[in-house]
Amino acid sequence: MSGNPQARRERPSGMWSTAPPPNRPGPPTRWSRRQHGPEAARAYRQHFLDLAADGADLHGEARFVTTLVPPPSRVLDAGCGYGRVASELTRLGHDVLGVDADPDLLALAREDADTRFVLADLSTLDLRTEQEFHVAVLAGNVVPYLADGTLAQVLERLGAHLAPGGYLVAGFALPGALPPGAAPVDPGDYDRWARAAGLSFIARYSSWDRAPFAPDGDYALTVHRLVNG
Ligand SMILES: C[S@@+](CC[C@H](N)C(=O)[O-])C[C@H]1O[C@@H](n2cnc3c(N)ncnc32)[C@H](O)[C@@H]1O
Repeated sequence: MSGNPQARRERPSGMWSTAPPPNRPGPPTRWSRRQHGPEAARAYRQHFLDLAADGADLHGEARFVTTLVPPPSRVLDAGCGYGRVASELTRLGHDVLGVDADPDLLALAREDADTRFVLADLSTLDLRTEQEFHVAVLAGNVVPYLADGTLAQVLERLGAHLAPGGYLVAGFALPGALPPGAAPVDPGDYDRWARAAGLSFIARYSSWDRAPFAPDGDYALTVHRLVNG
């Protein structure tokens, strides 16, 4: 998606499965508290397929990443969901690994046999054999749907998986435009946690097509870099 997609992207809470959460890695997140189960996962994907059928652009994130690093680059799609961004990055020629803690979304993602997907919690991520990504991308409100109090650990873990010079890219809605169940995240706080993870601020925009950032706007897309890694 190229603008602020969140208003259309998320559905009202309570519309999907009320079954008990399945086994999943890590502590419950704001996402897993809101939706879980195969039916909810399929409905979430269908929501995007419907948007695409209506002409929505679902691939602004993948194009943005490709402007930072040319294919083939190693890209970590952190909180990949059903693989919307990861699969497009693969199609663009990148070497992509998608990670998510929702097993039902990940099962859908794995229908794309050309992209690798791993079930894991981002706050404890340790991909022992794959430490060096050129980009880690947190797309589609992963940040406000983390478990409360885990953003610092998540950024530390993602920073630990970047190659020297690698980028961390995160797009999320700001207060006033948050989807149901998501937590407000102040971009300044995000920057502080990123700096604590050893990452340098590069740029902030208000959309995936690089519209200028507006502090009172509804979306923040932030780029950091592992400069001295
Ligand atoms: C709004 S969805 C976005 C999915 C995907 N990035 C996209 O844009 O289509 C948020 C995703 O973040 C994942 N998530 C939230 N906290 C997580 C964590 N601690 N570890 C792994 N995934 C997490 C959820 O499971 C969910 O798939």
